[in-house]
Amino acid sequence: MFLKNVERISRFKNSISSRLTISYMLVSLTALIIIGLFLYEDLNLSMFDFEEKYLIDEVYLIQSLLDERHGDLSAANSEINAIPHALKKASYRYYVQIFDSEGHLLKRTSTMPKSVQHLKFPLATPNWQESMMTQKAIDKKTYLLVTAPLVLNHKTQKNGTIQIALDLAYPNQLISLYHWHIALLILGVFIISALLGRLVTSRGLKPLFVLANTAENVRLDQLNQRINVSDWPQELLSVGQAFNKMLSRIENAFKRLNKSTSELAHELRTPVASLMLEAEVARTRPRDIAYYEKLVDSSLEELKRLTEIMNGVLFLANTNHSETCLNLSKIEVMSELKNILNLYSALAKEKNIELNLSGISCFLTADTVLFHRVISNLLANAINYTPNGGKVSISLSIKQDRSIQINISDTGIGIPKEYHEQIFEDFFRAPNAKTFYEQGSGLGLPIVKQIMELHGGSIQIESVEKQGATVQLVFPNIS
Ligand SMILES: Nc1ncnc2c1ncn2[C@@H]1O[C@H](COP(=O)(O)OP(=O)(O)O)[C@@H](O)[C@H]1O
Ligand SMILES: [Mg+2]
Repeated sequence: MFLKNVERISRFKNSISSRLTISYMLVSLTALIIIGLFLYEDLNLSMFDFEEKYLIDEVYLIQSLLDERHGDLSAANSEINAIPHALKKASYRYYVQIFDSEGHLLKRTSTMPKSVQHLKFPLATPNWQESMMTQKAIDKKTYLLVTAPLVLNHKTQKNGTIQIALDLAYPNQLISLYHWHIALLILGVFIISALLGRLVTSRGLKPLFVLANTAENVRLDQLNQRINVSDWPQELLSVGQAFNKMLSRIENAFKRLNKSTSELAHELRTPVASLMLEAEVARTRPRDIAYYEKLVDSSLEELKRLTEIMNGVLFLANTNHSETCLNLSKIEVMSELKNILNLYSALAKEKNIELNLSGISCFLTADTVLFHRVISNLLANAINYTPNGGKVSISLSIKQDRSIQINISDTGIGIPKEYHEQIFEDFFRAPNAKTFYEQGSGLGLPIVKQIMELHGGSIQIESVEKQGATVQLVFPNIS
């Protein structure tokens, strides 16, 4: 139980949506508290301002009532006894007392409690508006006090003072009510923002769940499924697109593997079956030595072809896009090409094919063994698919971007246009090639292409049927 709780807490802590929701809540809480405090302080100040003005008005009102009635104090009776006035806020309770210049009490609000009478009012000064003060009475109530000079009678020049105590219970009550309202509002908005935050983040992170779900459900027979990322947020769009691309790559590689495996089986089945058949026929009755010799020779030929196929498949499988297997060194291209050409001169002579090599001396950083394999494969193709008396030429040049270009062209049977796309597929052989030259596995060009890609280079073939083919190799200059 305890462990489960710990696990739940740590999952909560590690969840992006929980973190985002908490940050969102904290930010909104801080903002709300700041706004609340500001409003509260503002209200406090305005209330105090209002209360001060209220007292000043009261003093002026009583003074003007006295002026009107030439010092008759009863004229201000309704004000002094704080009888609700139509224009005034009835909820403000205040007490008034008026003294003559000797300090004798002339008038006092009849309901003025003793606790208020004992309060220490400020002294009456000419700038009495500024010397107002708040004070707590013994009954714990707070009052705003003012003492102002009063002209009791202009004619007789009789002066006095007026003291007013404003009970702050009502405004204080208003403020504390407001205080609670703000607190409740903050709590409400906080809860709503937490829920909204949770909703927004879990909606925003939904693509991640879709991604995890799809990744979990990827099956080899369902590699064609893709995630619809069209409505994904910008930040996750690239992740979704990368995931879809990865699925495409896996799908292609898997298709290729499947195709190669079935083609390999097909490619091996026929020669193995014919080898078996020949052996079985030979065993049906005794044969002479010449028969056996012929059988062994043809079997050897077939086994050589099979070995070649298996080596090719192994090579393709082993070097499948792993650059780490490259053993790079600096090659003097011209002399290397000459060496390879020498190896094929006997075969060319046999077919009366003219071999040419042209170009300038230059260096290339490449894997020597693999470079040999590329040129040998292409040269073999050029010679094998060229009828007797034809011509095969190799030319070497350096391009403007300092990459090295090797062209191998022949005057042979060429490749029909409709097969130009397919010639790099494993085991593919164009029909005209199959009839012209029976041996061959259809693995030469895929191997060449793979080696070129490992070197960061490229291969292109241009060909017109019955007129010949030109293979163009480009090696990037990495030295
Ligand atoms: N120089 C060429 N002339 C004509 N066809 C070619 C040439 N090079 C390649 N091809 C075509 O491309 C196919 C694939 O070549 P490759 O992979 O070397 O296999 P293979 O030579 O064993 O048939 C050949 O079967 C042939 O149809
Ligand atoms: Mg070949």
